[in-house]
Amino acid sequence: MTDSRRYREIGVTPLSKALGAQIDGVDLTQPLSDSVMQELKDAFATYSVIFFRDQSLSPQQHIDLAEQWGEININRFFKPLDGYPQIAEVIKAPDQKENIGGTWHTDHSYDQIPAMGSMLYARQVPPAGGDTLFASMTLAFEALSDGMKKTLLGLNAWHSSRHAFGYSVSDSEHYEDGRLANPELAVQDALHPVIITHPLSGKKALYVNADFTVRFDGWTTEESQPLLDFLYAHGAREEFTCRFEWQEGSIALWDNRATWHNAMNDYHGHRRVMHRITLEGVALQ
Ligand code: SIN
Repeated sequence: MTDSRRYREIGVTPLSKALGAQIDGVDLTQPLSDSVMQELKDAFATYSVIFFRDQSLSPQQHIDLAEQWGEININRFFKPLDGYPQIAEVIKAPDQKENIGGTWHTDHSYDQIPAMGSMLYARQVPPAGGDTLFASMTLAFEALSDGMKKTLLGLNAWHSSRHAFGYSVSDSEHYEDGRLANPELAVQDALHPVIITHPLSGKKALYVNADFTVRFDGWTTEESQPLLDFLYAHGAREEFTCRFEWQEGSIALWDNRATWHNAMNDYHGHRRVMHRITLEGVALQ
């Protein structure tokens, strides 16, 4: 049901009880008025991921739109769109088996100042499949026991790009076909609180993820892994998630500090082409 009590200028329809809302009544090729932008920001803070349908943006319009939300972070590892270094191509070709982003994760947690958000624009989608799942890390935190919350609130964790984008994976299909590049630049390690206070909502959120978190600070990898595995299974519980079915022209904007996402890899033999712009964040506390 549309959330019409709070929003006058835009249509906001929640996708699940947990997170995610579809926004209607906005043409993203046009400059957004202050009042529309204010409502979009409110919906983004409330639902953590917002979706738009049937948008027809040129690459430059995609960049202009992203710049209305913040400064663009240029990705070091993804192949950029020709002539547009700000836009990373997330592609799976018909003959490829591995997709990009096909495990639960949050983008750029290996950076000292992790990305605020990612804006993904569907250029070409398979006839069926290729949905993206999102999970709320505020709900995941809230559902933990008091004992677990207390333990996690005292911990920091190390996040790394080395095992995900570095030399150890440079013979993967992603590197061989040029979708990813620059393994020599995968030198980022960053320490973040395991539970952050979300900069927009003020709510506490779980901030570890299966792609980039390597261990708790002061713990060995072997000591860390069982608790991390528990948190990864816990965070992916269905009641914390929503699922978005892409169409060409769909756009998702998600908050990397409040969500995980997971791109379904269930469309072998078909092409899926997405354009991603990542937005700079603030230091996490
Ligand atoms: C990503 O992980 O950034 C890509 C998600 C997707 O392609 O659905």
